[in-house]
Amino acid sequence: PRCYALVPAAGSGSRAGLAGPKQYHRLAGRRVIDHTLAALTAVPALVGVAVVLAPDDPTPLGDGERVRAWRVGGATRAESVFNGLQALASAGARAHDWVLVHDAARCLVRPADIAALIEACRDDPVGGLLAMPLADTLKDGASDGRVEHTLPREGKWLAQTPQMFRLGALRAALQRHQASGFAGITDEASAIEHAGARPRLVRGHAQNIKVTYPEDFAVAEALLQAGAA
Ligand code: CTP
Ligand code: MG
Repeated sequence: PRCYALVPAAGSGSRAGLAGPKQYHRLAGRRVIDHTLAALTAVPALVGVAVVLAPDDPTPLGDGERVRAWRVGGATRAESVFNGLQALASAGARAHDWVLVHDAARCLVRPADIAALIEACRDDPVGGLLAMPLADTLKDGASDGRVEHTLPREGKWLAQTPQMFRLGALRAALQRHQASGFAGITDEASAIEHAGARPRLVRGHAQNIKVTYPEDFAVAEALLQAGAA
């Protein structure tokens, strides 16, 4: 089976508070998405990178041999991924091929961690995801803004991307949630879990943050300037 990357990049970045979508914000001289695509194309095991853009996004992207852009973004991240999987399949990817879904907004992912995920999962029956053991203490908060209780941290992980699953299995798992508008499906692994399988957790790196809030951009820029990725 071959390995493809699928990059959802059809969001508006509302929490970032920028003038335009965060994937086009410049950090250390390059757009966020260009940093992301550079990390993915640095992984020789990935034969192609499919980027999902919003249907009305005129940004030129993906003229490279291994990078193709599809303007099939949906209303939610899960819908964008689902549509991207269809596009990949119509472009010739097979049901048993692996797809590594990676957020455009995770521009600090290290090629070595992507390669390690592929190595850990390519003989796995299910697939898996990069994740980090939780470092902070986890509180269950009530609607009155006070702590309900403290949850045990042991065994808790923060999910990152890439998340690597078979194209056919992921498409089928997501399809089950299409009618509900993909409610509650915030990553690929959650869809796979609902379908009854147990994804492998592969320890990534704390640097693989998703730029989300305004304050994340300064951190990302400093790391990129320092050549951390
Ligand atoms: N994404 C997408 N299609 C959507 C929503 C999100 O392809 N309908 C992509 C984003 O472009 C991003 C990734 O999914 O690369 C992770 O989503 P998130 O960090 O939530 O980005 P946004 O949805 O753009 O930001 P926000 O939620 O703050 O509006
Ligand atoms: Mg979002």
